[in-house]
Amino acid sequence: MNTLEEVGEFTQIFDALMSLMRKFLFRVLCVGPIPTNISFIMDGNRRFAKKHNLKGLDAGHRAGFISVKYILQYCKEIGVPYVTLYAFGMDNFKRGPEEVKCVMDLMLEKVELAIHQAVSGNIKGVRIIFAGDLNSLNERFRAAAQKLMEITEENRDLIVVVCVAYSTNLEIVHAVRESCVKKCKNGDGAVVLEVSDVEGCMYTSAVPDPDLVIRTGGGDRLSNFMTWQTSRTLLHRTEALWPELGLWHLVWAILKFQRMQDCLQKKKKLD
Ligand code: IPE
Ligand code: MG
Repeated sequence: MNTLEEVGEFTQIFDALMSLMRKFLFRVLCVGPIPTNISFIMDGNRRFAKKHNLKGLDAGHRAGFISVKYILQYCKEIGVPYVTLYAFGMDNFKRGPEEVKCVMDLMLEKVELAIHQAVSGNIKGVRIIFAGDLNSLNERFRAAAQKLMEITEENRDLIVVVCVAYSTNLEIVHAVRESCVKKCKNGDGAVVLEVSDVEGCMYTSAVPDPDLVIRTGGGDRLSNFMTWQTSRTLLHRTEALWPELGLWHLVWAILKFQRMQDCLQKKKKLD
């Protein structure tokens, strides 16, 4: 056996052991309540690139995609039904045009890869939904996002909402406009909007409100991310940069959610 084969065999054994360890760990974790929707404010990609001396405008963001892959896999294994990812906020468009283009190109590359994997059956059970002002994105990205949404539509193991060109104030304005248009079509009198009308037209209306928001990169702001939907949500911040977020950070955040259950339930009743 040559060295390459030995390395391959060792990797397979290591992966199998890690998978077994996770199975055991998640079984214990599932004794307590599991959040229905975990949302991630993915921050710290550029600091990660700087910290590790990675070259290229997209280096940190590329590293961030590796975290996305693993975190989604762990959430699926735990049995979390919904995950929301804050991938690119409206404010991020204020960055230099070169960086914006770089991130958009990278996202397109990953969406096209996901389409390829979904078609060949490599991302089984995962449904992808894009939320945000998709009309403000370029035609090729929009078409790819639409295709990925369509081919994963029937999947139910894990529903992933990717917020792109998103901000809560934009989402609310969009939802108010949409619900006005709907109400005007239905009647001819003055338009009276209910909270439920607006909620039904939000970009993220397909998913329940997050139970747990995890923000990486040490920040403790919501940065215009689902502020309407998070009035009763537990916010967990970690100093880990997004590409550093791993299994133990996720488990720790869920354990905190479980420890806080009594308090969170009492608050829900008082509202
Ligand atoms: C978050 O990481 C990723 C996106 C907003 C696309 P940043 O790019 O904000 O990285 P830092 O926070 O500057 O390190
Ligand atoms: Mg940042």
